Amino acid sequence: MALPRHVAIIMDGNGRWAQQRGLPRPAGHKAGVAPVRLCIEQCGRRRIEALTLFAFSSENWARPTEEVSSLMGLFLDALDREVDDLHANGVRLRFIGERQALSVRLQSRIAAVEQRTGQNTGLQLQIAVSYGGRWDILGAVRTVAARCASGELRPADITDEVFAAGLSLAGLPDPDLFIRTGGERRISNFLLWNLAYTELYFTDQLWPDFDAAGFDAALQYFAERNRRFGLTGEQAGTSA
Ligand code: FPP
Repeated sequence: MALPRHVAIIMDGNGRWAQQRGLPRPAGHKAGVAPVRLCIEQCGRRRIEALTLFAFSSENWARPTEEVSSLMGLFLDALDREVDDLHANGVRLRFIGERQALSVRLQSRIAAVEQRTGQNTGLQLQIAVSYGGRWDILGAVRTVAARCASGELRPADITDEVFAAGLSLAGLPDPDLFIRTGGERRISNFLLWNLAYTELYFTDQLWPDFDAAGFDAALQYFAERNRRFGLTGEQAGTSA
């Protein structure tokens, strides 16, 4: 079965999961930690190279203060609790997003974890926090613009590769498979540049309910796709 090298996930539906149970929304986020662990294990077991999870968008700052602070607390707790295990399993953990927007405490914890796991060669795990696809693209634009302004680069030399080197996922293959739980069929300002040719898989399962069978179903969907990258079926060597 063809496996993706890189899986990207929008973990949606925590709030509804909690509301359905008469619980406060943060309880849904807390219940969302177990499927995060499950997906990391599933990727590790299958030797999938990279996993990128959308945990908190640039737009999520506008949520009620209590929800934002409970999510930030959850990231801190999960980091503290899981880092030994991740490191022991060879996971390299990195955060992508606007770091300066995070508390100094979270920033320093993130820096320590990235330093500790930075040489690991197992699963390359990216957690997107305070991340937006447009923010990411603008960062890459600023990088190439600065290089052009300094005379180091000519506008004509800005290729896909030169540009993408300024993005958060530089050095990783683009995601082959995108999964969104929670029923919406949107990209919601996730990895706008990197998802250009990605297979998109949507499921109504709410994130806290996402399980091994759900992950398998997404992989099965991927295996059944013909990836043609704009070519004809014959050129790409796939059946029509
Ligand atoms: C979207 O559901 C989910 C989030 C904004 C938070 C995602 C965070 C976790 C899964 C916690 C664990 C993460 C890590 C990295 C340890 P929603 O609140 O938009 O749900 P709704 O659409 O039902 O309201």
